[in-house]
This record gives sequence, C-alpha cells and structure tokens, in this order.
Amino acid sequence: MKGLILSGGKGTRLYPLTYTRAKQLIPVANKPVLFRVIEAIHDAGIDEIGIVTGDTAPEIREAVGDGSRWNARITYIPQDAPLGLAHAVKISRDFLGDDRFVMFLGDNVIEGGISSLIKQFDSSQWNSQIVLTEVADPEHFGVAELNGDGQIKQLIEKPKQPPSNLALVGIYMFDAHIFEAVDAIRPSWRGELEITDAIQWLVTNRHKVFPYIHKGWWIDTGKPTDMLEANACVLEELTPHVTGMVDADSVVDARVTVEAGAQIINSVIRGPAIIGENTRIENSYVGPFTSIYHDVVIENSEIERCIVLENSHIADVPLRIQDSLIGRSVTVKHSTRKPKSLKVNLGDHSRMWIP
Ligand code: TTP
Repeated sequence: MKGLILSGGKGTRLYPLTYTRAKQLIPVANKPVLFRVIEAIHDAGIDEIGIVTGDTAPEIREAVGDGSRWNARITYIPQDAPLGLAHAVKISRDFLGDDRFVMFLGDNVIEGGISSLIKQFDSSQWNSQIVLTEVADPEHFGVAELNGDGQIKQLIEKPKQPPSNLALVGIYMFDAHIFEAVDAIRPSWRGELEITDAIQWLVTNRHKVFPYIHKGWWIDTGKPTDMLEANACVLEELTPHVTGMVDADSVVDARVTVEAGAQIINSVIRGPAIIGENTRIENSYVGPFTSIYHDVVIENSEIERCIVLENSHIADVPLRIQDSLIGRSVTVKHSTRKPKSLKVNLGDHSRMWIP
C-alpha cells in the first residue's frame, strides 16, 4: 500500500502566518502538522509516500527531505494550481500505479490509533474506505447519507440542507478504480474536481465503498481557532518529558514537556504544555494548552492556550496573552516611551483584539 498526502493549496484562512510559511508546516505541540501525518501513515506500515505540493513546494521539500528520518521514501508531485482533491489524485497516477493507497489531507490532525483502520483496508476487498465523523456544522463539509444497513446512500459536498451530520474526515482509502472516477467527473461550481463527487461516482457505479465512523477527535486546521484546538488535543495525548533545565524557584506540572536546551527560571508552567528547544521562560507564567516553539524568550509575562513560533520575544507584557497564535520572530513588549499608546507593526491580514 502507498500513502498520498495533499500539501498544496493556498491556506488563505490562516493569513498572515501562511504568507510566509506552508500551513502544513505550522507546528501543533511543537511538531509540524505534516510530520504528524507522515508518522500516522508510516505507523500503518507504509513507507512509500507521495506528497502533492503547490506554491510552497521548496519549503516543504526542505523540511521533509527524502523521508529517511522516518525510514520512508518520499516522492514529490507538483500540482500547478489547487484544482481540487480529486485533481491531486489524478496527477498522482504515475506514482500510485495500481497499488491500493491511503490519502491524507496534509493539514488535518486526528486522534492517534488510525493505523489499524488503514491496515484493515489493505487486506480487504473494498474499493474504497472513507472515514466519517459527526460534526455540528455539516453544511461546511462533504456529507454522507447512510442507508438503514449502514452503507452509503449518497455523498454531497457542502450541502445547503445536509441529510445527516456525518462529515468526510480528510482520510480516504482507494484502489485503482478511483482513477476511472476522477476521469469521469466534471469540475464543481467552484471550479474544483471534488473528491466527494469521485467517491459518489464509485457508489453509483456499484463499487464497494465502506464507511467507517470515527468516534475520537479530528480537526481540519483551516483557521487559527482550529490550530489552537488541535494544539490542545495533541498536548493532551503527549507523554511528557523534561530534558531542559528547570531551576529550583520554578514550578512545573507533571504534564509539561521541556525540550533540550530550554531554561525555566523562576516561572510557573501548568500543563499540558510544551516548551521548545533553547527557549527561555523567565519570571513568567505559562498556562495549560500552550506550545512555545524553539529559540523563544518569554520574560516577565503571562501566556495561556497559545502557540508561539520560533525566535519570538515576549517581554514585560502587562496583560495575560490568551488564545493567540504568534508567528515567527515576533516581538511583543511593554514600552515606557511617551505617549502612552498602543504601538503596533502588523502584517497584512493580521488581527488584534484589544480589551
Ligand atoms: P483546503 O483547506 O481545502 O484548501 P487551502 O489549503 O487552499 O486553504 P484555504 O481554503 O484556507 O485557502 O485544502 C485541504 C488540504 O488539501 C490542504 O493541505 C491543501 C491540500 N490541497 C491540495 O494539495 N490540492 C488542492 O487542489 C486542494 C484544493 C487542496
């Protein structure tokens, strides 16, 4: 079996972070989402993985390399434009050949333990297996309607009146029949070749599509709030370790990971949380569900339920920073300069909330 990861797309909903970084490389619990996807596929015993890339291909190649870090072989498949998930399958034909494969969206994060499902498909006779989960807002997803016997009746992309609350999760398993499907369908109203339409084609043409209902959490990290939620869920799953330095004046919870070279000085860290390599936290409070990436400095400040990316500096901030996504090399500091006013230097599409 092979793996296919979709890592093209534009990531417009995560601007400004995705102006300068591929959204699949934004870390949750200090590990890029894309690396978590590669690991989930590799855990299922798959070592041949194709990655579909768009404009951010050079950055993704540089971060992932040839896959030897995971004992996997990575093939890059360039997609000229984000013309849809089924289009990504279509252009991957040479890489996939006639093998069965699992396709993951490179920006989705799912609760651990999905590998047995992939192995099960490998040894089955099904032409496809799709993963469904109950959501509160099905109108924003591909939605499945099941028959009384639990089999698929129909699939609809972003229905105005959803026939169920079962959304397609970004994990799909196929055999080579999917290539007939992606050749047969036409672009949707939004100009994309929809994977939902391709799977509906399999159903209509009496191929065996097996629905699996996932009960754990699953997050499509499209928006900043999704990133924070995925970060919280993954931090809950993490087995903590303390490799960095914690001084005698600090209090660090059992559910806190302190990575190599990090220093915790006269601070309180409440887990679940992770402090990255060579980061210094001094005279500060770091609250639950916070991930601080590598080479960050936080001094005389309080922060909770946030993601802070590398090389940022937060110092002497008089308010607690909460529910925030802070990019790379960002500075947030208290200023004593007159006049006493808010001084900002925000990039395009930045957002700021003032209490
Ligand atoms: P989306 O979240 O649907 O699209 P996007 O990444 O362009 O984001 P936004 O809507 O914020 O602009 O994509 C889901 C995943 O699939 C993501 O990892 C990008 C990838 N993808 C491709 O590789 N090729 C495609 O043609 C599309 C549409 C998405």
